[in-house]
Amino acid sequence: MKKNKRLKIPVWPIIRFEVIPLLIKAYLSQYWSWWGRYEIKFIKKFLDIHNAKYASVTVSGTMALEAALYALGIKSGDEVIVPAYTWISTATCVAKIGAVPVFVDVDPDTYCISPEKIEEAITDKTKCIIPVHLYSSMADMESIIEIAQKYNLKVIEDCAHAHGAIYKNKPAGTIADIGAFSFQQSKLLTSGEGGICITNNYDIAKKIDRFIHIGCSIYSKSHEKDYIMPYNKCNINEFQAAILSNQCDYLLKETIKREQNAVYLENLLKDIEVIKPQKASNGTERRSFYNFAFTVDIGKLKQPVSVHNLIHDLNEEGLPAQNGYGALVYNYILWNVDKNLYIKKDDTGAKKISDEIITFPHTLLLADKKTIRAAAQIIKKVVTKYL
Ligand SMILES: Cc1ncc(COP(=O)(O)O)c(C=O)c1O
Repeated sequence: MKKNKRLKIPVWPIIRFEVIPLLIKAYLSQYWSWWGRYEIKFIKKFLDIHNAKYASVTVSGTMALEAALYALGIKSGDEVIVPAYTWISTATCVAKIGAVPVFVDVDPDTYCISPEKIEEAITDKTKCIIPVHLYSSMADMESIIEIAQKYNLKVIEDCAHAHGAIYKNKPAGTIADIGAFSFQQSKLLTSGEGGICITNNYDIAKKIDRFIHIGCSIYSKSHEKDYIMPYNKCNINEFQAAILSNQCDYLLKETIKREQNAVYLENLLKDIEVIKPQKASNGTERRSFYNFAFTVDIGKLKQPVSVHNLIHDLNEEGLPAQNGYGALVYNYILWNVDKNLYIKKDDTGAKKISDEIITFPHTLLLADKKTIRAAAQIIKKVVTKYL
């Protein structure tokens, strides 16, 4: 990507020197392992932000999803409904425990799993749904919970993009049985790598905790250990927790800035008819804006042109545009190994998004207004060239 001096896009994660004394304190404490001072502090802050009761911190969002499936009793042979448009972890965690991911289409406006299509995909083997709150929208949780109750299914919210988002007065991650978040480098809260599960159910919380801490749970009153299962040992350490704890103090302020800048950018792009920004689903009250995303009506542009031409030109102008996940999750090489490993339903919406999507990292929305205006000008210039 070319450098463009007009674009002052912050580098993520933002460096805050106030974290250094925390890291030194953690180091000097000579306690670096699980449930140390900073981890407990971070858990408390994260639970307060998300208005939830229990949390377990782990090494990645992928591991958080796996812990969640384990805690809900999902087993080999069960079917788990996942969106056709998402990051591979939403599906690989299912396959890893021997269950079958069932890929269901997404809404072409919100990019989140379509509740009507979920209902069509339910069989007597279906045990769980994993909706993803993708980029900046929340899945239609009201309908999904209704379906789950009707068919007695568990629901895990994949909140890898939704730290601090709010849906119908409820924070992301607290609407279903479990919310699983990621703290990987690009995420809205990050310690380089990491993840967390939150829940309001005591029994589920204990199971998640045991999965992560080789049979131990902070939520087990007597602190009795359970060594019966071959659990994992995938907790974070005090240095990661100190960084995350500090980042919690900035999440709300940063989220508000991202939301305001997203509205500003959308308005600046309004007159380009071929651009259709990702919509928030009904009930989304605060958008996290992990990515700013839109689709371009390629059919209305001079042919032949693909979204990759546009992304190439945007990159040449210094804008960090990307093609979302690049491919549909079941088209990755992993899912081509054995077609019996997964079930694919209709994917019209997911295909359209995949062919037409352009995404920008959330750091663009942390820039000043001048940079947002410059970005809008570049997008206009690039797209109108092909009209
Ligand atoms: C939607 C989604 N789910 C899960 C994950 C997995 O998170 P991690 O990379 O921390 O394992 C990601 C990571 O990008 C993601 O985007």
